[in-house]
Amino acid sequence: MHQSPVDSSALLEITVRPDVVFVSGQGSWLTDSQGKVYLDFIQGWAVNSLGHAPAVLARAIAEQAQRLITPSPAYYSDKLLEFAGRLVAATPVDKVFFTNSGAEAVEGAVKLARKWGQVHKNGAYEIITFRNAFHGRTLTCMAASGKAGWDALFEPKTPGFPKAVYNDLESVARLVTDRTVAVMLEPVQGEGGVIPADDDFLRELRRFTQERGLLLILDEVQSGMGRTGKLFGHQHAGIVPDILTMGKGIGGGFPLAAMGCRAEVSCFAPGEQGGTYNGNALACAAGLAVLETLLAPGFLDAVEAAGTYLRERLDPVAQGLGYGRVRGRGLLLALALGCDRAAAVVEGCRERGLLVNNTRPDAIRLTPALTVSQTEIDQCVAILGEALAAAAG
Ligand SMILES: Cc1ncc(COP(=O)(O)O)c(C=O)c1O
Repeated sequence: MHQSPVDSSALLEITVRPDVVFVSGQGSWLTDSQGKVYLDFIQGWAVNSLGHAPAVLARAIAEQAQRLITPSPAYYSDKLLEFAGRLVAATPVDKVFFTNSGAEAVEGAVKLARKWGQVHKNGAYEIITFRNAFHGRTLTCMAASGKAGWDALFEPKTPGFPKAVYNDLESVARLVTDRTVAVMLEPVQGEGGVIPADDDFLRELRRFTQERGLLLILDEVQSGMGRTGKLFGHQHAGIVPDILTMGKGIGGGFPLAAMGCRAEVSCFAPGEQGGTYNGNALACAAGLAVLETLLAPGFLDAVEAAGTYLRERLDPVAQGLGYGRVRGRGLLLALALGCDRAAAVVEGCRERGLLVNNTRPDAIRLTPALTVSQTEIDQCVAILGEALAAAAG
């Protein structure tokens, strides 16, 4: 039997991890306890938008930690007000509620939509979601997700999430009843393998939901905050959601997420939504530092350019070896292999000092820091090419 050199016996087993212990990181690079350096194209599952230990974020956190960490969610802090103001000015939503994780933001969106259904739609509560979707790991978020194998887990889960087919408006229309209050989707299905929604589908869905008096909830926990080359994935289609969730890259690695809505949708009574750490000053200082960086002139254009460069370099290498093409947007990308060899490729990359991951057996997901350089992309493609060749046999 394999004897791990890492003593992880104190940790609850929730996933299989390789025998690597990381001790530090800088930009696109991570160092393990043996001094081995890795090029990180996972970045905490698309979380470290500015890479590891970015100076602007480290400084903001250190300064805020010495001034005020949290005054209690029952009070305002200067950072809470400043960050909320900056965020709504940059987004199509008018009001925002901060959370600690993406799942909590999605839960908030579901609660807000159900409350809105109680107030405005005769108690309608069903939210149409999509097959292959991922919305998080609370029981409600799991129910909203369309992940294979999750149906039977931890039953009974929260009811009220009929599943439509992604990019198929007819399948949505068929599920609408008097009970329907909203439709919720990711503009790019991230965990589902980086599958973008068609811009036309998003526009038609927006029109459809408006005509039927339904809310459109966009879960941009993964696709938001600059990841696709615009601040939000839905901006590619030129639509505006009623409720928007944000997470992952919003804190640059600091635990932070948010749920925002248009003013007309805001209908929580005091006490119906909240949480001990929600909107604490330290998290807001981190979010503010990240947002200011993302909004700096040229930053998002550089994300778009880096994504195009990665695609143009990787496509010919992969296709030369008989694999598929890169899909996705900006720096939310996946290489479609066309065969179930992703696990071997991921392992081959790690042995060679590159971190990538696979959310399904036939695709390699690439979510580098939004600040990744062309040299680092070249290094990634070189290593990935070697691992792809090795896995090809
Ligand atoms: C689209 C989407 N929504 C929600 C979540 C859940 O976020 P968290 O893991 O921060 O709870 C994720 C996480 O991958 C996600 O990709």
